[in-house]
Amino acid sequence: MQAHGGRIIERFARNSQDLEELAYLELDSEVLKEVENIAYGIFSPLEGFMGKEELEAVLNEMRLPNDLPWTIPIVLPETRELDVKEGDTVALKFGGKTVATMNIEEKYSFPKKEVAKKIFKTEDASHPGVRGLMDGGEQFLGGKINLVSTPKTEFGKYALSPKETRVLFKEKKWKQVVGFQTRNVPHIGHEYVQKAALTFMDGIFINPVIGKKKPGDFRDDVILDAYDALIKNYYLKDRAVMSILKTRMRYAGPREAVFHAIVRKNFGCTHFIVGRDHAGVGNYYGPYEAQEIFEEFPDLGITPLFFRKFFYCNKCEGIVNEKTCPHPSEFHRNFSGTKMRAALSEGKKPEGMMREEVFKVINSYENPFVV
Ligand code: ADX
Repeated sequence: MQAHGGRIIERFARNSQDLEELAYLELDSEVLKEVENIAYGIFSPLEGFMGKEELEAVLNEMRLPNDLPWTIPIVLPETRELDVKEGDTVALKFGGKTVATMNIEEKYSFPKKEVAKKIFKTEDASHPGVRGLMDGGEQFLGGKINLVSTPKTEFGKYALSPKETRVLFKEKKWKQVVGFQTRNVPHIGHEYVQKAALTFMDGIFINPVIGKKKPGDFRDDVILDAYDALIKNYYLKDRAVMSILKTRMRYAGPREAVFHAIVRKNFGCTHFIVGRDHAGVGNYYGPYEAQEIFEEFPDLGITPLFFRKFFYCNKCEGIVNEKTCPHPSEFHRNFSGTKMRAALSEGKKPEGMMREEVFKVINSYENPFVV
């Protein structure tokens, strides 16, 4: 399985230049994650933060200037004004320590509302992705980066690079590997989608997103503990692997679904699950818009597996969807995120929606939600 663009990018600093003299930007923990994603090839073929031409191609064509599919901007906001010109090297710091260097290719701005409309299909500031964009800086820096050192970050034991996941899949002799994106604790609907895909794949790569999420979503540590409990009790050891994707949720629905697929391609997946309202929020996107967008990318290089929404049917006495169940809706019970959260916040097991072992883990947290 080729990486996006043909090879896994690695951006590690080779010669140790004197970093103390350099102008620097202090990164927040979310931008730090993107630096690592670029350096380890999770965002292949990107070698740095996008410049204006790349950004415009992504906005207007959903492709990089070389025509490779790419749907989400990866940009570096200039959080304090730097006196730099094209060709300068700057240090990128986290917690006062230089983590990377960047070769400045350009400094630019863009109309954020227009960007919001193209990426999120709305300018509404109550959309969490739009809000994130609006709250960020006005000036952006484009250019290649080189990782100098990775600070110890949380959940390191769950973080595998594309080179590592590819070795792992090979060791397991998996030829067909399906990637699963999630920002949630697993309910039975999630498990069902995964196992439906696993039925005709060799293995599943469960890849929760760890990073900034909106209030009311589940905390990262809760998601990982809940999945550990699920995998231990309900999956075959040689059929499921979990590792994390350190990046924030954008809630950009269709565009984010394609981005999610590209990243999993880089990890070595051959297939990628897209269910109902993938990476959606509120009612900004149609329930299957995140599936329809894939029609525009016959050249993606990873095969999306589409699933209609699964729910429980009292008449069938099993989990079904509109393609498999002939009964009217009064027999149906949805795996509702809202109902699940309501039960969990009262310390109650969401009946018929969640495995006992998963519930116990979540319930052991005083507050499992992002505040
Ligand atoms: S997401 O924001 O990461 O997409 P979530 O973690 O809830 O949210 O979903 C992960 C994946 O499972 C997505 O592809 C989503 O469409 C799919 N999914 C979630 N619930 C269901 C369901 N009941 N039926 C089918 N697919 C589902």
